[in-house]
Amino acid sequence: MSAELQAGRHGAPLVIDQVHKRFTQGRRVAHILRGCSLTIGAGEIVALVGESGSGKSTLARTIMKLYTPDEGKLLFGSEDVTHAKGKALRQYRERVQMVFQDPFASLNPAHSIRTILRRSLPPSARHYSERQREDLFDEVLTQVGLTPASNFLQQFPHELSGGQRQRVALARSLAGRPDLVLADEPVSMLDVSLRLGVLNLMLSLNERFGIGYLYITHDLASARYVASRIAVMYAGEIVEEGPAEAIVEEAKHPYTQLLVQAAPDPDRRGLQELDESVFTGEPPDLSREIQGCPFQFRCPHVMEKCYESSPPLKDLGNGQKVKCFLAE
Ligand SMILES: Nc1ncnc2c1ncn2[C@@H]1O[C@H](COP(=O)(O)OP(=O)(O)OP(=O)(O)O)[C@@H](O)[C@H]1O
Ligand code: SF4
Ligand SMILES: [Mg+2]
Repeated sequence: MSAELQAGRHGAPLVIDQVHKRFTQGRRVAHILRGCSLTIGAGEIVALVGESGSGKSTLARTIMKLYTPDEGKLLFGSEDVTHAKGKALRQYRERVQMVFQDPFASLNPAHSIRTILRRSLPPSARHYSERQREDLFDEVLTQVGLTPASNFLQQFPHELSGGQRQRVALARSLAGRPDLVLADEPVSMLDVSLRLGVLNLMLSLNERFGIGYLYITHDLASARYVASRIAVMYAGEIVEEGPAEAIVEEAKHPYTQLLVQAAPDPDRRGLQELDESVFTGEPPDLSREIQGCPFQFRCPHVMEKCYESSPPLKDLGNGQKVKCFLAE
């Protein structure tokens, strides 16, 4: 193991504090993140689950600072990176890497795997000799199970299978020696037979190098499989979070309860699609201010006060936090 890849052992916590993100399209303003708060401990695997359009990728892109938060703060270790620019931003992005939702789109088809990896190296690797660089590429490809690495280095993305491309995307994030990888649905585009392999790979990299993950997924069962904590997102807010087991076994928020109900049989490792028929009603219109609880339009337990004010985030004391009046 090279010293390079041990960097994750000294990771730092990431704190997302009341982050808002709005997008303006003409006269319409869409409030996509609405006061989103979440902490990812150093070396921790946190899963972020929620339905399509809830803002998961927007949160990941905001953490990467591809978008600037309109309100709120991002803290990494002792640094406030909310408005980081220049060198501070580059250093932050060396430590926090993203694996994008679509590896087909994020790997440049005109570049060989070697070029893709070379371009992912942090500026601090510029002084590497050709030999050191090749050793590092060999190491990261071997770590993601692409062996012999020399065969893969000269290939192009279209020559690889979907599973192999996903592994290249992970290898690329590792070559940058991160503390934290934001993995946006890293297995959703893979065959069911390959998914478990990539999840196990993430787990082993976490154990061996202390790399933390924000694992974004629709799939509660795989969230429980890899993550120690699960955060549930709805309409741009974290509505419940806690130890993975508590979220799956003792969900307190009605939305989480529906997600659990919709999840496939856990004995089948849950790598199938959700049964979305348990969800009735429409998600909220994000171009409007929502008065009251954002889940009021679909909640089977909605009460009078849910229309009037938004419930506070209640700490249940076991590490579980819930944003619902029923938890009071
Ligand atoms: N750059 C943008 N400009 C305007 N609207 C955007 C932008 N990016 C995302 N959105 C909107 O924000 C909402 C959340 O999108 P996002 O991609 O974050 O959802 P998601 O939870 O990742 O969904 P999925 O599970 O389908 O990947 C969607 O309504 C989307 O249309
Ligand atoms: S606060 Fe009310 S509407 Fe919101 S989830 Fe709880 S019961 Fe349902
Ligand atoms: Mg997404």
